[in-house]
Parts: sequence; structure tokens; C-alpha cells
Amino acid sequence: MVGKIPSAFIDDLLNRCDIVDLINNRIPLKKAGKDYQACCPFHDEKTPSFTVSQDKQFYHCFGCNAHGSAIGFLMDYDNMSFVEAIEELAHQAGVEVPREGGQNAGSDCRPLYAALEQAAHYYREQLRRHPQASRAITYLKQRGLSGEIARDFNIGYAPPGWDNLIKHQGHDTHSIKQLRESGMTLESENRCYDRFRDRIMFPIRDYRGRTVGFGGRILGDEKPKYLNSPETPVFHKGRELYGLYEAHKALRKIKRLLVVEGYMDVAALAQFGIRYAVATLGTATTADHLERIFRTTAEVIFCFDGDRAGREAGWKALNTTLPLMREGREARFLFLPDGEDPDTLIRKEGTEIFEQRIQNATPLSQFLFDKLAEQVDTSNLDGRARLADLAKPLIAKLPQGVFHEMMLKALSELVGLEPTHLNTQPTTSSNTAIRRRTPHNLQPMTPVRLAITLLLKQPDLAQLPNLPTQWKDLKKPGISLLTELLETIQETPSLATNKGALFERWRGREEARHLSKLANTNLPTQEYTVEFRDALTHLQKQLEEQSQDLLLEQYKEGSITEEQYKERLRQQYPGK
Ligand code: GTP
Ligand code: MN
Repeated sequence: MVGKIPSAFIDDLLNRCDIVDLINNRIPLKKAGKDYQACCPFHDEKTPSFTVSQDKQFYHCFGCNAHGSAIGFLMDYDNMSFVEAIEELAHQAGVEVPREGGQNAGSDCRPLYAALEQAAHYYREQLRRHPQASRAITYLKQRGLSGEIARDFNIGYAPPGWDNLIKHQGHDTHSIKQLRESGMTLESENRCYDRFRDRIMFPIRDYRGRTVGFGGRILGDEKPKYLNSPETPVFHKGRELYGLYEAHKALRKIKRLLVVEGYMDVAALAQFGIRYAVATLGTATTADHLERIFRTTAEVIFCFDGDRAGREAGWKALNTTLPLMREGREARFLFLPDGEDPDTLIRKEGTEIFEQRIQNATPLSQFLFDKLAEQVDTSNLDGRARLADLAKPLIAKLPQGVFHEMMLKALSELVGLEPTHLNTQPTTSSNTAIRRRTPHNLQPMTPVRLAITLLLKQPDLAQLPNLPTQWKDLKKPGISLLTELLETIQETPSLATNKGALFERWRGREEARHLSKLANTNLPTQEYTVEFRDALTHLQKQLEEQSQDLLLEQYKEGSITEEQYKERLRQQYPGK
């Protein structure tokens, strides 16, 4: 297990990097007063409402409310995961990412990437130069693969023989070690030899274009047909998607991703103009894959064979997808005619008809209900009740939100029951869906909300002298969040001037949503200091009232005498 990245390191990293430089390298920013501006990269607009603050190390779009730190920007703009974004910033700052428990993020992987890159280059050269390459070229031609696609996907050829690659780049113990660690060689009885021999080589590149492994196809019908790189420090089958980098390269914006099964499918689809296909590497689609997909686009279409195995794989993918079906995301399922795969089909029927199939792919909801309906007799009430029972645990996997509600409604129509009888919502967060629908500016501005909003707008308010503190004992919603926010800034003063780093502290937590909402609330005042003291003073008063009410209640119940009541009131509030 790799330890967590310490939050102090993240604070520090965000203090070292400059969000203005980082964003300016990607979209040109114009100075506007104290801040910088551009047209927002996250929504379409003609006049700039995307603002980057150097002071606060924070970006915010007044048009679409996108906002966050340098880490958030890399995640949303460059489609990186949280850890990747941190690694990128650390790399730029020239520091290693530490892990809690003393473990490091892992040893330096750069030599492995370099070895794999060199191997990819070697295989590609062999496809042009090796005396036996004509067989490989004939094979590719026979499969109909164009030279242009072979180039785009950097397809190569591993020549026959036991040690071509080792001879080519295994000059010393060091480079031999790297070949072994990157999975390019095998060892048996103390002899080391090339893993890939006499195969067409498909380099697998990560989303940034670094070669992380290979798939190798035999030229004929022998087994195994495909050989893949083993898991290595830089290659995890459950995470990589073949073709994602190539899709990014070919398309300015990836509107949707089509998930297929094979290397050849991705290459053939690209050749026929469908540049948005990716393949899992001989494994089922994992949650990691899906997170990567949904960081890239909101629309995914899974493509499977029409046979039983394909249907089962589709059902498995549906189950993995459910927990990730947040609002705005769309997943559909495309089942191909028996005996066809995307490669054979698009060559047969052409791009237009294939795209028609994509267009008509089955929505997730329909696939789900159809599949369950196959298992029961929906013509009678018992069968429909049974359908509801089967669907409920699946719908419960969906995150709260509009899609969840739509599915419940669809189910209720299907089985003829009121949605209230189909409640699948876990009680702890049963009101989030409703809360979400309330526009945040319609929420009453209570003192707690006001204090949080002010702190988010101007975190250094936390450092004002003589702020009241007893209000922290109030039993009210929001008090614990306000307390945590205030104390976090007080404990780490650098957060007062780095709003980006401050927001990072709540990443992945339920409260992050509340914070975002409040940070985007407009306040009618500029008197932040006065308002902030007032809000806390107000809370302080509420605390007093709360304890007075409690005393009065105890007195009324008879658990304390009138004397005790008056005495305690005097003790607590000498003025009364
Ligand atoms: P072609 O026969 O070249 O068209 O292959 P394909 O892309 O149609 O592959 P197929 O549908 O047979 O398999 C889909 C994917 O499963 C491949 O791209 C590989 O990733 C994986 N796969 C297929 N056969 C093997 C195998 O023998 N071993 C391993 N490890 N993976 C395989
Ligand atoms: Mn095939």
C-alpha cells in the first residue's frame, strides 16, 4: 500500500507553483487589474469571465462557476487524476512526492519510460528495415491497415529471434535491469531473452503519450494470439486505455469515447474516421478506466459482441458504471451482430452505417430494465414486484441526483408503483437530491453561512485578533464546518493567502460542495471585517440563548430550583 500524500506537502507545493504561469502556458491570460482573465476553457463564451488570481492562487469562472487550485485546474483541463496533478506540479518544482508512513511514491520511473520509448522506436525501425519485415507488412496490408494509421499508432515489428532487443539496448547490467523491470524480457534458468518475438507491436501509451507497455500480435493463427506486457511500476492493465492518447492527439475536443475490446478495433475505427475509440487491454472495464473516461468526456458508449459473452460483459460494465453515473454523464451500450467486431464491421459497412449504430446505442436505463425484464414475467403484479426488487439494489448504486430520480421514476412507471414505495435512498444522505435542486442564492443567509462565505472570500479574516470562540459549542448545522475552516486557517497561516491550497483540504469530502456553493455566493457588502465579527457575535448570542433556554427548561421540568436557575444565569452572564 502506498501511503497518503501529506496535506502539508500539498500546501507547500501550491505555495511554490504559480497558478498564473501554469494556466498561461495553456490558455493565454490577459492582465485585468490585480487579476488575469481569459475566455473560460470550461464553457463556451465570447467575453472573458474566467479569472485567475495570483494573490489567492485560485481560478474562478463567473460564467460557469468552475473554480479551484492549480491541482484542480490540471485535473479538469489536462484530465489528470488528483495524484497525477500533484506529481506533475512536483515534477515542475523538482521535488519528490512524499508519502505518509515514510514510503515514497515509488522509485524513479523515468529510466523505465525511457527504456520503453527506446524499445518502441526500435520496433518501429524494424518494421521498415528488418529483412523479415516484409512478412509483417504483408500481414498488416492483408488486414487492411494503412501506413498512416501504422504511423499514428506507432505500430512496429519485433523480429524473430531470442535477443534482438537485448542486443539492441541491453548494453550493461543497468540497461538489462531496466528491460527486465519494464517487462520487455523474460528469464528462465538464468538466461534472459526477449518477451516479444516475431510479433506486430502495438505500443500502449498513457494519456500523456508515454509508452508504458506493449501488445504484440502473432502474424498467423498460432497461440497465444496476443501477448501483453506484464504489470510493471508504469503499466497497470486495469487503468490504461489503448488509444486514448491517440484520440487526444487527433481530436481537439473529445466529445465521446467508444470502448471496444481490441487493438485492431481501435486502429481500424481510427482509419475509418472514428478517432474516439479506446480499448481495455484484455480485461473488463474497471472503475479506474471509467474515471479516466469521465475525466475526458461525459459520454461513453460500450461496444460488445452480440453473443452471450458480449451481453455478459456489457452487464458487468453496467454494474461498474452505475456508481459513477453523476448528473450530465451518459453511458450507452452497443451490441454488434454475431461474429462481427468493430474492425470487421466498419470495413464491411463503412463509417456512416457504423456511426448510425453508435447513434442508436441502447441507453443505460433501457439496457438495465430490459435485462431485468427478461428474468421475470411483467404481465402480472407479482412479476412486476419482483422486477422492482431486482432493480432497487442497482438503482441504489447510483449517486444521488437527477439521474437517480429519473431511474426511480422510470421504474415506478414500469411496475406501476409510486416512487415513494420504491425508496432506494440511504437515509443518511436522503435529502441531498432535494438540496441540490435549490439554487444556492435562494438559501437564507444565516450567520453561519455568512461567516463561512466571508472566510472563503477572504481567508485572512481568521487571523483577526480577539475573535469570539465560545460559539463553537453551538449545536447547529454548519458550526462544525465553520470551526474546522477557521481553525485550519489559524493553524496553517499560509492557507490564508492561498485559497487554492485551502480548498484542496476538503477535496473528496461531502462538505466540499457546501464550500463551493458558499464561495460562489454574492454578498451585498464589502465590509468583510465588520460583517465577519458581527456574524460571530451573533452566533455567540445564539449560544447564550441556547443555554438560557436549556436552563429555563430544566427549571420548568423541576430538575433545578428557582434559586439554582437564577444563580446559574448570573454565573453564566454576569450582566443579567
Ligand atoms: P484480431 O484477431 O487481431 O482482430 O484481434 P481482436 O482485436 O479482434 O482481438 P480479440 O477480439 O480476439 O481480442 C480482444 C482483445 O483481447 C485483444 O486486443 C487483446 O487485448 C486481448 N486478447 C485476445 N487474445 C488474447 C490472447 O491470446 N492473450 C492475451 N493476453 N490477450 C488476448
Ligand atoms: Mn478482430
